[in-house]
Amino acid sequence: MEKFVITGGKPLRGEVTISGAKNAAVGILPATILAADVCVVENLPDISDVAVSLKILSVLGAQIRMLDRNTYEIDTTHLTGTNVPDDLSRQMRASYYFLGALLSRFGKAQVAMPGGCNLGPRPIDQHLKVFSALGAEDSVDYGMITVRAKELNGAHIFFDKVSVGATMNGMLSAVMAKGQTILENCAKEPHVVDLANFLNMCGADVRGAGTDVIKVRGVEKMHGCTYSIIPDQIEAGSYMVAAAATGGDVLIKNVTPKHLEPITAKLRRAGITVEEFDDAVRVVAKGRLTSTQVKTLPYPGYPTDMQPQIGVVLALAKGTSTITESIFENRFKYLDELARMGANIKVEGNSATIEGVEKFTAARVSAPDLRAGAALCIAGLATEGITIVDDIVYIQRGYERFEEKLRSLGGIIEKVSSEKEIQKFKLKVG
Ligand code: UD1
Repeated sequence: MEKFVITGGKPLRGEVTISGAKNAAVGILPATILAADVCVVENLPDISDVAVSLKILSVLGAQIRMLDRNTYEIDTTHLTGTNVPDDLSRQMRASYYFLGALLSRFGKAQVAMPGGCNLGPRPIDQHLKVFSALGAEDSVDYGMITVRAKELNGAHIFFDKVSVGATMNGMLSAVMAKGQTILENCAKEPHVVDLANFLNMCGADVRGAGTDVIKVRGVEKMHGCTYSIIPDQIEAGSYMVAAAATGGDVLIKNVTPKHLEPITAKLRRAGITVEEFDDAVRVVAKGRLTSTQVKTLPYPGYPTDMQPQIGVVLALAKGTSTITESIFENRFKYLDELARMGANIKVEGNSATIEGVEKFTAARVSAPDLRAGAALCIAGLATEGITIVDDIVYIQRGYERFEEKLRSLGGIIEKVSSEKEIQKFKLKVG
């Protein structure tokens, strides 16, 4: 099992370039199915969720050519299958997008109940609500979801909950339905807009993405395009927090500062300087951080995917902070790990009260999920002594060259796979 060994307590300094957005990539790759043509997708992050999505496309019969590490040519003209193999769909949450895309093109799809991070119950009733409103029938058998429709017809759907996945699946399944589909109470995240832009480049007619109401006018046929994925808001935010927690000074390049505003606002409240440029932000931390209150909300609120990272900052901030998690029930597991490093935190229901400590103490901790794993590494980088983070397979799902980028900022972090390698690291860093 691979793990990260980290020796911290040194400010991170320098420049880091952000990769393409994971949550956009995992929607756009299945969307290439709708083109039934050749698409070139640029700025794809080199992470395992993208590798799994490409593998699924390939198993379904797509011809895939890697043009460079972050650019793939995908030809979905002659797909042969509509069933996503069980072992692949279980590897990531976003396999549900194959349901919408395959249903739209072929009128049928079968995907296993999606896997991904365990953040509490993650139902897909709102996804099925769209499929059913468009005329599809669904069934679940032995953990496999099957959807089928003779034809799809436009419909008016009001989501009971704001859901990124259901909004994106709504667009995927409606783009070639007959007539107009109106989706209300939609998620407004940047990756929702990115998927809509990709679909429109392929000939779809999707309007209003980024607002509460999305209107999709069904088209008969779509075509290929060349498309570049937006920068990853959460990866960028994670490096912003890494700079803040280590008292560093980091220029974060290839970002859309507008997408980072909820994160920037909270870091400023915690006493950090954030300078915004056209496509970069500079984060400078000096002196002790100050406490603040954070509540996770759908975009443009503070993102739940940045909750564990800000938790690390607040655990080091002077005074009492609170975090309220309003999206997922089970997203405080990392706090037990942070407590092993000396953090002082009390959790009640969906709220955490944090009494900031001056510093953490190094410990062996385990990554409970993707973002929490990154947060624990950041905590390690802010801590003198040797921190070991186990179960890093989660982190590799969502961060391209994580340790390499941190090392370029002066972080001392290495991936190891045995106790012997840990001992070697200990000897090396003294
Ligand atoms: C996506 C992101 C994930 C992020 C989350 C919230 C991807 C691949 N993943 O996950 O990183 O943390 O958005 O920003 O893009 N819900 C239902 N029924 C549904 C769907 C969702 O009750 O059919 C609930 C969920 O349990 C959750 C809330 O709605 O409480 C929001 O979930 P949703 O936005 O759908 O998250 P995901 O698409 O799973």
